[in-house]
Amino acid sequence: MADQQQHEHQHHSNNHILSLPPNRHVINNAPVPAPDHPLADLAAEVAHSFAVALNPAALSGVSRAMASQLAAAALNPADDAINMLPSFTHALPDGREAGAFVVLDVGGSTLRVGLVRLAGRGAAPAVVDPLRTFAIDEHVKALPGTAFFDWLAAQVAATLAASPDLAALLPEPVPLGMSWSFPIDQTSIRSGRVLSMGKGFRCSDTGGGVVGADLAALVEAAAARHRPRPLAVRVAATVNDGAAALLARAYTDPATRVSLILGTGTNAAVHLPLPALAPRKLAGDRRSPAWLAAAAASGGVVVNSELSTFGGAGVLPQTPWDLALDAAHMRPGFQPLEYMTTGRYLGELVRLVCVDAASRGPFLGQPRGVLPPAITAPYSLETAVCAALEADDSPDAVNSAAILQKHLALDQPPALADVAFVRHVCACVSRRAAAYLATAVHALWLLQQGAVHLDEKPAVAPPSLASVTIACDGSVINKYPRFQTTCQAFLDSLTDFADPPDLPDLVAAPPPVVGSGGSLSGPSDPPTPLSTAPTAAALGSGPRILLDLAPDTAILGAAVAVAMELAGPA
Ligand code: BGC
Repeated sequence: MADQQQHEHQHHSNNHILSLPPNRHVINNAPVPAPDHPLADLAAEVAHSFAVALNPAALSGVSRAMASQLAAAALNPADDAINMLPSFTHALPDGREAGAFVVLDVGGSTLRVGLVRLAGRGAAPAVVDPLRTFAIDEHVKALPGTAFFDWLAAQVAATLAASPDLAALLPEPVPLGMSWSFPIDQTSIRSGRVLSMGKGFRCSDTGGGVVGADLAALVEAAAARHRPRPLAVRVAATVNDGAAALLARAYTDPATRVSLILGTGTNAAVHLPLPALAPRKLAGDRRSPAWLAAAAASGGVVVNSELSTFGGAGVLPQTPWDLALDAAHMRPGFQPLEYMTTGRYLGELVRLVCVDAASRGPFLGQPRGVLPPAITAPYSLETAVCAALEADDSPDAVNSAAILQKHLALDQPPALADVAFVRHVCACVSRRAAAYLATAVHALWLLQQGAVHLDEKPAVAPPSLASVTIACDGSVINKYPRFQTTCQAFLDSLTDFADPPDLPDLVAAPPPVVGSGGSLSGPSDPPTPLSTAPTAAALGSGPRILLDLAPDTAILGAAVAVAMELAGPA
């Protein structure tokens, strides 16, 4: 399996897409508009702005700065921390977890209610029966306070009503596992305090906002309020979806220590030794001495990094369109990495560039200053449309013209020059997203490299981190054309570039300073494009961070968490 992936990776990294420096000829497969193109200047500006740090020297500086931010957050004793949040899960699954569990996967765009059957590691693959899937649209996201939980309970009730044979077999109250795609300050395996939610959700902060409330209690109370018949449920385990991905993968591969989500939002979970965290984060009023002893014996704790919240304070260079997105956002500056990399935002960045394009002259069949009505509202250009444009390899991009005509509700197919421009913008935006995500993953790896040595007398031998496999899930990393391979190529270029610094150096390192035009001052090495040649990392001679797709992890991981909880302390 690993060999096959390595082979596939080498094959892909030989692809010409990655061989060219930005803003020449082709970016991520899309031709750069010709110099006589009416939007050539804007196209060049976009190419330049989105590629400002995309060379190994600059990205390596960004990675070190992000690793410093991660280390500082891990050592931050504040009670209101929003990231580097320890879970209550210290031991990873031992593979004996088995049973059938009803699981809620509360995602940023979809709620899934599923039945998961675990047979034990090696016995039979886990089976996910996705009972029902519900879109979480802007209306649901806008539900204030507990109204969102009423909606959630109604969907669980509808699912069970539609599966009477299953419902008849379930005990009362129905035990639920829950994967939660938002920050949570765990207070037990079962639950935690709700923290401010991103992704356009309003329930945490409006209508009596639920920040600080107990998540399991919110779900259980909403189920009890459900009419015409109350629903008796008991949340048996709650996990952030990033941590769920880690548990799901560790269930089949015990060496797993890091996971990554890239879908509507982004996040990573990492298993860290206790000394890497501020003692206050694990203080006695939150974790019992027995828990602390067990965590020390099992080598650490699963930490929800809330990776999306890092990269601010000038660490990730911003383009004018990032600044515009941030300024109009409900939470400016809350999730810097997320605003540049995830499914909720890639389409919006492309749309904001289109706003500029329209202001310069006739564009997409409209007169100057006018955008097609279908994309005038913020967030109306979906990332899925950008993905479809980037997947198009039809001659003269005729398929792209048809895709834009359909999604933008245009009377006529758009001019090919405009189609080329939009595809070019998508390519610049997605390539930078892959680079910054790779950089954030690299930063987390630097932190973990430094942290494993903090435990001077580890109860269990720390895993070798020279090569790590990261369990990845989420719609963008799974489905966006070439995203995973581009991201892997950037990761390889980063692991090739420099030796990891020691953790104390990371904590002391000042962040690089970014100029207003987005240029990075600091390491002054000339920009180095990614090369076509397989890197030392890809060839196996250096450290390797391998992104490995691990589908269905949110729902599987929540089921594994329930099974671990029911099995009791190991
Ligand atoms: C949330 C995380 C979540 C991630 C991936 C982010 O917006 O803050 O808690 O894990 O998205 O779904």
